[in-house]
Amino acid sequence: MRDAAPTTIYLKDYTPFGYVVDSVHLTFDLEPHSTRVTSQIAFTPNPEATDRSFFLHGEQLKLISAKIDGIAISPTVTEQGLSCDVPNAPFTWETVVEIDPANNTALEGLYMSNGMYCTQCEAEGFRKITFYPDRPDVMSVFTVRINGPHPVLLSNGNPVDAGPHWAEWHDPWPKPAYLFALVAGELLAHSSTFTTVSGKHVDLNLYVRPGDEGKCAFGMEALKKSMIWDEQVYGREYDLDVFNIVAVDDFNMGAMENKGLNVFNSSCVLASPETSTDDNFERIEAIIAHEYFHNWTGNRITCRDWFQLCLKEGLTVFRDSQFTSDLRSAPVKRIRDVIDLRGRQFAEDNGPLSHPVRPESFQEINNFYTATVYEKGAEVIGMLKRLVGDAAYAEAVDLYFARHDGQACTIEDWLKVFEDTTGRDLTQFKRWYSQAGTPRVNVTEDWTDGTYTLTFTQSTPATPGQPHKDPRVIPIAVGLLGSNGDEVRKTEMLELTEASQSFSFDGLSSRPTPSILREFSAPVILERDSTNAERAFLLAHDTDPFNRWEAGNALAKDARLNMITKGAAPDADYLDALQKLVRDDDLDPGFRALVLQPPSASDLAQTLFENEHAPDPQAIYDASETMAQTLAQTLADSLPRLYAATTVEGPYQPDAVGASNRMLNFRMLALLSRLDGGDQAAQQFASADNMTLQYAALVCLLSIDKGAEQNQAFFDQWKDDRLVMDKWFAAQVAFATPEKTAAIAATLTQHPLFDMKNPNRFRAVMGALAMNHAGFHHISGDAYSLLADWLIKLDPLNPQTTARMCSAFQTWKRYDADRQALIKIQLDRIAATPDLSRDTTEMITRIREA
Ligand code: BES
Ligand code: ZN
Repeated sequence: MRDAAPTTIYLKDYTPFGYVVDSVHLTFDLEPHSTRVTSQIAFTPNPEATDRSFFLHGEQLKLISAKIDGIAISPTVTEQGLSCDVPNAPFTWETVVEIDPANNTALEGLYMSNGMYCTQCEAEGFRKITFYPDRPDVMSVFTVRINGPHPVLLSNGNPVDAGPHWAEWHDPWPKPAYLFALVAGELLAHSSTFTTVSGKHVDLNLYVRPGDEGKCAFGMEALKKSMIWDEQVYGREYDLDVFNIVAVDDFNMGAMENKGLNVFNSSCVLASPETSTDDNFERIEAIIAHEYFHNWTGNRITCRDWFQLCLKEGLTVFRDSQFTSDLRSAPVKRIRDVIDLRGRQFAEDNGPLSHPVRPESFQEINNFYTATVYEKGAEVIGMLKRLVGDAAYAEAVDLYFARHDGQACTIEDWLKVFEDTTGRDLTQFKRWYSQAGTPRVNVTEDWTDGTYTLTFTQSTPATPGQPHKDPRVIPIAVGLLGSNGDEVRKTEMLELTEASQSFSFDGLSSRPTPSILREFSAPVILERDSTNAERAFLLAHDTDPFNRWEAGNALAKDARLNMITKGAAPDADYLDALQKLVRDDDLDPGFRALVLQPPSASDLAQTLFENEHAPDPQAIYDASETMAQTLAQTLADSLPRLYAATTVEGPYQPDAVGASNRMLNFRMLALLSRLDGGDQAAQQFASADNMTLQYAALVCLLSIDKGAEQNQAFFDQWKDDRLVMDKWFAAQVAFATPEKTAAIAATLTQHPLFDMKNPNRFRAVMGALAMNHAGFHHISGDAYSLLADWLIKLDPLNPQTTARMCSAFQTWKRYDADRQALIKIQLDRIAATPDLSRDTTEMITRIREA
């Protein structure tokens, strides 16, 4: 049975559930097609609720029996759940239901992946396991018994007892159902231990399928680093006897923070030097930290309702980015986060899917795990910290934990601890949570009689459902540089609160060069007339690493935009500035690599669109190619030296310094390949003893339309490693030339190893297709129709992954009429598909309404 007609849920309609759940006992009798779930739940009428109607969520469940206080009843069951009359006093509820994990391709609820059972309950998956008030504000203590033949039987909390073919778990911490988890299978444990700051012993296990034992060590170390970091930086200790992580091959997302039993997409936890790149290692470390940090920000303190999702996700993303900054290079992390924010969140915030960090309505909550809730949600916390300062931030967060431990909270609760510790009124700041859209901040400057004045004007374009915007509180970090490059004013945090506001600086002997929005202190689009000379000056001298990079990025973008819109030649000043910077061995190689990293095609497209040019993806591609070729020629003399200098000697280590060198090494190889036809890359491919170098070489070759031989060799070497095969599928599509992209992707969907039911494999091909900007938007329209074909095929099997991938079309109104017409045909075709899921229907409807 497919979903019923979509209904919209509103934040303003929140009411508490009519009953408190005192305890939950679950028994699972595992069978692939007929697992029985017995639930015994103690309910008490909720004194804080007025509505006592009794409704339990439940979807795709076969009800075998239901009892109240031991007496059989016949509740009313619909596609959404069950209702019945219940006593106006505490009572016990017992149901037996049957479910079919083996046929669960949606990967939500209890499902099977390569013979193992596992669960995914966030956001609303628990209702596919048993009848329950499946909402995050209903928290309870769970005891779970699992009966099954598997050697490993896991659930949340601490192990209580086990025997042959059964195990019992008890989680003493009250939790919402979305944090429930169960895993059963033939798994191997990579084990270690951790002693918390107060001396508590914790057993750590990373469970994997046989064959993956060799890919566990890095994840385990990352977990321990996360545990120590959260003790030292946030004063948060772990609170159970065991912490288990399980790697699962079929998983819709990256990972999930179930209490004491995190479940990970195997791509986000398994790593070895031979099979994982530096980027994989860094991402794994960050995701392990992220899910671990949820133990406090998400689990101990959870969300009242799903509108408050950013309460846990924005904060936890902020925390994991602090962690990565502390362990690795803070500037490199910041620059990468901003590139990502602009690439994904700005695109979302300036298109039909734009929504506030705290949305006010939704049809399918799974569609709101977005860059806005996550990344902009984290930016909002960063701004709050900048505004109140580090000490007050720490004090407020301590108060948050002390005041709200064990509760299901709201953004109001979060902001109140800041108001109470600092005495600040955050009413205006709260607009960051309620207003969608990216603010534009225009800057003009004045230099009169020794006074330097910056005038800022803010405005935010209309977004769906929000025609009018009020001014926000925008922290703008500003420093001033003198003509010799010295900093004449250290960074100051200006607080923009009005639509238009000026700030003056006195006592300067000459007109300074401003460095504005240092560290990217607010997620806004800064509009300012600047010259290439000024940018080159900042690129050479700014003391703020982010703005130093930003100056280079602005030069890089402008140079390409001028090529595209004015037919200009590659800008000589830009090439000159880059040349100086790249040769400056005092600079961190990772930083230099980021300055050399070309602006993404979609970032250029977005900027063109903002400046009232319909972006031509082919023209963007051609300009970027010409620029890369010219840059390679300009740097020709330095390339071999820098390539050699950044080659890391000795056995591969996934450390920050090595990774930083390899980032620059990769940029050098990419440029060298444009001069030597790929000889050096072929050599590197042949001699590489780690995936970072092997994959970099393959990418360089594919990018210049070479490497057929290496591509085949890569396949032969790695065909039995599914995570490396995902890379193989993705690289061929992501780095294909525009005219070949769709055809290559189409061919790969016919490959014996293509498996649409595996989200990683599906995304490897279709995600890469959507990310190859010029290939996806090729004027043939082939890529549009290919993606639509596969979204239509996947939707009945896995609505969540299908819906997420619809966002490939979210920017369609940026483009010319021909492309818009081509995309419109596909959007209409998807929308007209019979029985389309609620998830995909909502996404396509919103995108079409652009
Ligand atoms: N709670 C989420 C996982 C999740 C997302 C479950 C959507 C259900 C629906 C988890 O904490 C998370 O945010 N994971 C991210 C990775 C993280 C590092 C941002 C993910 O899965 O992409
Ligand atoms: Zn999360």
